[in-house]
Amino acid sequence: AAVEMGSHVLLMGASGSGKTSMRSLIFSNNPASLTERLGATIDVEQNHVRFLGDLILNLWDLGGQDSFMDSYLTTQRTTIFQQVGVMIYVFDVETREMGKDLEYFRDCMAGLKQYSPDAAVFLLVHKMDLVREPRQLTFQKKKQELEEASGDTKVNVFGTSIYDESLYKAWSNIVHTLIPNATILSKHLTTFAGACNATEVILFERTTFLVIATSSSSSPSSLTSGSEEHPGPEPLNSKRYERTSELIKAFKHSCSRVREEFRSLEMELYDFTAVLDEMTRNTYVLIIVHDPTIEAAALKLNIRLARSKFE
Ligand code: GTP
Repeated sequence: AAVEMGSHVLLMGASGSGKTSMRSLIFSNNPASLTERLGATIDVEQNHVRFLGDLILNLWDLGGQDSFMDSYLTTQRTTIFQQVGVMIYVFDVETREMGKDLEYFRDCMAGLKQYSPDAAVFLLVHKMDLVREPRQLTFQKKKQELEEASGDTKVNVFGTSIYDESLYKAWSNIVHTLIPNATILSKHLTTFAGACNATEVILFERTTFLVIATSSSSSPSSLTSGSEEHPGPEPLNSKRYERTSELIKAFKHSCSRVREEFRSLEMELYDFTAVLDEMTRNTYVLIIVHDPTIEAAALKLNIRLARSKFE
């Protein structure tokens, strides 16, 4: 039986900012090209997304048209802002109405502060693919603007696009804050990595393929940035998690188009071995080993033996 989580996730932003597209991309298997067919969201479209089997995320995709926005902030204020675990606010980077966007955003932040002061806040500067180079500069400017508008509330700002892996990075961080035992999972993964002599072990959620935990760090983001700043003896690509999510998601989609179900993946290359396999009913595990004496079959056996620890 599914257990409803006490809190819900708010997904907000102006009309056309891209909320529905990103939600369908992350939580179902829609490729990015299908999003143009989505209609405008009317009022509150409440979506229960089953996650990790028993966890239910309550996504409120709020139609961003003005009349709806106004009612969220008045009559429906209590319903919307109570028991919020995470608020995600999407900004179209190319918007011509940043002033109005910010005004609504400040109102939402006030509602959140009043009813759910402990909620985590994620701000997505979306459609980054439309920005001309240097993109980083535009992003930094927007980020600063949003942080100023947020007052003393701590916010996490990400640049995103449905056309590359950046969306997976942002959503992995969002989902990470919602997993109650993420630290314990990381600890188990570190032990498991040691037992496999693995360079790294990564746990993915089954349907979204978002990174839940990794062996080397308790949060997906800290490792990503850390490896850039302190390249060890073997610098790992800082985008490897989100790129893997994106690739496997696309691969799974191709499998379903030829009516095949994705089960597992094995790669034995010149300098590393990778095995991706089911860990539990709701998760997949990826093991990366840089040791030519360890065979994929041995790693698969280890996964089988470790399963009960992760259920
Ligand atoms: P409402 O339902 O009206 O609140 O809008 P919404 O925020 O749900 O926007 P929706 O997902 O319907 O997207 C609006 C348009 O933006 C669609 O044509 C999408 O294809 C497009 N879009 C979404 N994400 C991106 C992106 O990352 N880059 C680009 N270039 N276009 C995007």
